[in-house]
Formats: sequence, structure tokens, C-alpha cells
Amino acid sequence: MTASVVGLAGSPKPVSRSRALLELTLAALERQGAGPSRLFDLAALPADALLGRREDRDLTEAIQTVLDSGIVVVSTPIYRATYSGLLKVFFDLLPQDALARKVAIAIATGGGPGHLLAVDHGLRPLLASVGALVVSTGVYGTDAQFRAGVPEPALVERIERAALEAASLAAGVTT
Ligand SMILES: Cc1cc2nc3c(=O)[nH]c(=O)nc-3n(C[C@H](O)[C@H](O)[C@H](O)COP(=O)(O)O)c2cc1C
Repeated sequence: MTASVVGLAGSPKPVSRSRALLELTLAALERQGAGPSRLFDLAALPADALLGRREDRDLTEAIQTVLDSGIVVVSTPIYRATYSGLLKVFFDLLPQDALARKVAIAIATGGGPGHLLAVDHGLRPLLASVGALVVSTGVYGTDAQFRAGVPEPALVERIERAALEAASLAAGVTT
């Protein structure tokens, strides 16, 4: 059985390095036969709904798509040594165990290598807190690893590896 894939872009910026890695990961998963994918820019969702002050149809749809997916790919810039507040407020709205029996890939970009471990110390616990099975290969890119928005080959290799792990794991989870 194929899993459907959802990508969550956690950068508030319209042109985003972490989003570029997310797009490449969704394409890699598609090549692995992981099923159709959808990408949500969390910054496009209304801020007051993300803060829980009101309901919003687009936000409800994004959450439902996550709940219906088999693989969840999360990308974020590193802000103040961890994932963005935008990603945090979205995750705060997910039900408990929302990602149970789902496979997740964690992607982050930072200004430099200093906060590389934010993937393991920040993003992984965030995903695990709602039950996700996070693949062992995390993806972390620094701004210097991009030329005109295009990531260097070493980063693309990490993406391919993470996608292969996710597709294999999801096939096992759903059979
Ligand atoms: C408010 C803010 C805080 C940041 N904090 C950090 C940080 O703590 N560590 C780091 O490595 N980079 C930090 N950066 C740099 C971004 O993480 C980096 O440029 C990233 O690639 C941006 O991703 P994006 O293009 O997807 O938005 C910060 C940038 C901003 C705007």
C-alpha cells in the first residue's frame, strides 16, 4: 500500500532554503513510489487561527491532511537555536498521537553549523511527542551550502537517503 505524503514548510519567508529542501524531499519520495504529496506553507495560514483564537477552514484542512498522510516531512529554519515558532504553534494544534504510525523526515537550515544538533535535540523530540517514527537520517543545511537557492550535492544526497529510509519504513508500517 502506498502512503500519501504531506510537507509542512515552517519558514515565514516567501523565499526559503528550508522549503527548497522540503520540495526536493517530496520529489525524492515520489520517485520512491511513496504516493501523492501536498505541501503546506504554514506562513500562509492565518496567524490568529494558528494561535487558537478562531477556527479556519484552511488550517483545518492542513491538520486533516496531516492526519490522513502516511509520511510527514517537516522543514524549518533554525531560529534562536531551534525550530521556528511558526512550526511550534502548528504542532500545538495537533491532537495527541496525531503522527502515530506515521513516518517523519526532519529538515532544517541554519545560518551556520553551530546549531546542527537542533535537528536531533529539537525537531526529533517535537515529532516524537506526537508519535512519529522519525527516520535516522536528518537533513541540516547551512546557508553556505546553497548557491542561488540550489543546495550542494552533499545535501541532496542526505535528502535521497532520508527519502529512501522513509519510503521503506512507511511500506513496512502500512502493510
Ligand atoms: C530571527 C532569526 C533567528 C535566527 N536564528 C538562528 C540561529 O539561532 N542559528 C542559526 O544557525 N541560524 C539562525 N538564523 C538563520 C536562519 O536559520 C537561516 O538563514 C536559515 O537558512 C533560514 O531558512 P529559510 O530560508 O528557510 O527561512 C536565524 C534567522 C532569523 C531571521
